[in-house]
Amino acid sequence: METPGYTYGTAVVARSPLTLDEFAQMKQTALFSDDDVQALRASRALVEHRVEEILDVWYGFVGSHPHLLDSFTDAGSGAPVAAYLGAVRQRFGRWILDTAQANYDQAWLDYQYEIGRRHHRVAKNRTDGVTSTALVPFRHLFALIVPVTTTLRPFLAAGGHSAAEVDRMHAAWVKSCLLQVTLWSQPYVKDGDF
Ligand code: HEM
Repeated sequence: METPGYTYGTAVVARSPLTLDEFAQMKQTALFSDDDVQALRASRALVEHRVEEILDVWYGFVGSHPHLLDSFTDAGSGAPVAAYLGAVRQRFGRWILDTAQANYDQAWLDYQYEIGRRHHRVAKNRTDGVTSTALVPFRHLFALIVPVTTTLRPFLAAGGHSAAEVDRMHAAWVKSCLLQVTLWSQPYVKDGDF
C-alpha cells in the first residue's frame, strides 16, 4: 500500500536525537510494560478492519472544533485544505496500525521524531506541499489524547472481550499515546531541556 508522505523506515527520516535506552526509561516512567505491548497487539484485530470508521470519528472531532481545524486551513484564506486533510488522514490510518503493532525499534523512534517535526514549525506543511498554518499549537497536543482514546474505546469493546480486557487495551493505548506525544514534543522544547 502506497501512502503519500509516509516515510517510516526510509532514509528520508532523520535519526532521533533520543536513544532507544532513553525511550526505555520513558516507558518505565509511564509504567508501560510488556503487558501493554501484548495488549496493543491484541487490539490490532479490533481496529485494523475499522480504520476508516475510527478516522471518521477522530476527524469529526477535529472538524467540529474550529480551533483544531485551524491547523488544516490555508494560512491566507483560512479555508480548510481538503487535500491536506485527506493526505494526513491516510498517514493517520497507518499510525493506528503502527501503534497497535507496538514495535519500538530505531526506525520507529526515528519516525516519531519526524512526526513531531511535522507538527512543529520546522517541518509542518512540507510533506504535503501546502501553505497552512505554521505549527500545531503545543497546548492542544496532549489534550487531544483524551478524545482520541475515549472514542477508541467502543471499538476495543466491540469484540466481545471482558471489561477487564477492554480496560487493559484501553490503558495501553493511553500510555502509548502519552509516550508518543511526549516524543513528538521534542522540537517544541528548548535545546537541552527535553
Ligand atoms: C493525541 C494527539 C495527536 C495524535 C495521536 C496525532 C496524530 C497525527 C498523525 C499520526 C499524523 C500524521 C503523521 C505522519 O505524517 O505520518 C498527524 C499529523 C498532523 N496532525 Fe496530529 N496528532 C495529534 C495532535 C494533533 C493536534 C492537537 C492537532 C491540531 C489540530 C494536530 C494536527 C495535525 C496536523 C496539521 C498534521 C499534519 C502535519 C504536516 O503538515 O505534516 N495533531 N497527527
